[in-house]
Amino acid sequence: MLILFSFLLYFQLFVFVSPSSGETGIGKSTLMNTLFNTLFEAEEASHYQNGVYLRPRTYDLKESNVQLKLTVVDTVGFGDQINKEESFKPIVDYIDTQFETYLQEEMKIKRSLFDYHDTRIHICLYFIAPTGHSLKSLDLVTMKKLDSKVNIIPIIAKADTISKSELHKFKIKIMSELVSNGVQIHQFPTEDEAVTEINSSMNAHLPFAVVGSVEEVKVGNKMVKARLYPWGTVQVENESHCDFVKLREMLLRVNMEDLREQTHARHYELYRRCKLEELGFTDTDPDNKPFSLQETYEAKRKEFLGDLQHKEDEMRQMFVNKVKETEAELKEKERELHERFEQLKRMHQEEKRNLEEKRSDLEEEMNAFNRRKVAAETLMGQSLQGSSQPFRKDKKSFFSLPSACSLTAGRNLN
Ligand code: GTP
Ligand code: MG
Repeated sequence: MLILFSFLLYFQLFVFVSPSSGETGIGKSTLMNTLFNTLFEAEEASHYQNGVYLRPRTYDLKESNVQLKLTVVDTVGFGDQINKEESFKPIVDYIDTQFETYLQEEMKIKRSLFDYHDTRIHICLYFIAPTGHSLKSLDLVTMKKLDSKVNIIPIIAKADTISKSELHKFKIKIMSELVSNGVQIHQFPTEDEAVTEINSSMNAHLPFAVVGSVEEVKVGNKMVKARLYPWGTVQVENESHCDFVKLREMLLRVNMEDLREQTHARHYELYRRCKLEELGFTDTDPDNKPFSLQETYEAKRKEFLGDLQHKEDEMRQMFVNKVKETEAELKEKERELHERFEQLKRMHQEEKRNLEEKRSDLEEEMNAFNRRKVAAETLMGQSLQGSSQPFRKDKKSFFSLPSACSLTAGRNLN
């Protein structure tokens, strides 16, 4: 689980729960309340989100003469989904968006960085559940995605639920896994002599094992923040009970300014460099000579116009090719149609020829028949001259059928 912070000191604190914990309710709100000795909104987050969303809340806090504008960004739903692979993306995007907004302000002609509401994230508190088991690969992947963008401080939450010896082993295991996977968590700086000793010893205590509670309990004659159990009391601010005081000292007293500086000089600078390089800006030309902004702009403009021209040429060529292709397709279709027409024409002529042949055959037959008929009639006429009347009558009815047939055949041929 993750919490991000920023300080007017503008301070952005990012609260982040280890995705492998697979649950929220790990004690983020309680720890924030304990850390800043106040009661932030205690609305319980829904744990049935489809995705991860970030809930930034800004508070005005005042301690001594320091006014603190604190933004706490809660990662709601982180680790609650079945598929957690893309869980870190909204967080990375959120951090980048804050850098981008700052970069836009910086690049304005009229900048107002002095009273700019800096929303860049200064700390990511990475909450690890007190399981005693090793970190999951998803934890390592998530931290790896974030370590170049934000100062990660891993903390073991609800440290009162793990025994002292288990906690010791758990801390060693976590640190060795982080080192062997190349995850860079935030190291408190040791260069400044004033803080060398305290910061080196605090670095050795990472990850801080914390307990949160806003409940006040009387111990001796003092009221202290504690968690009461049937077997005893866990005092939040007792260094032999947990690392809460160490965390508070490191974040809010000793290193707050350094965390802000690291955010600007390391993480933001990296974002800015990558972004400007992505936009094509360089400091030197190919001959290693310094490049002025004007020259870079001109070069970029030329490159852009060249690209545009190239794209236009490509589109024109594509259009010409398309027209040619369509033309060729149409020609092919025309040729196919012509071929089909010729084929039909040939078939038609063939059929016509066949019909002609049949017609002439039938005419031939008809002529032959007519000839035979005339011959028969002549023959019959001759033989009738010497025969009786009744017999002639029968013969006439015999010839009436062929003559009717010849007439029908003649009509069909027409
Ligand atoms: P969501 O916002 O709902 O995700 O929860 P959260 O992470 O803000 O957890 P919250 O602070 O609301 O605490 C959840 C429960 O854990 C409460 O019952 C707290 O009293 C308890 N709790 C908080 N801190 C600790 C702790 O250090 N130790 C133990 N044992 N319980 C704690
Ligand atoms: Mg909460």
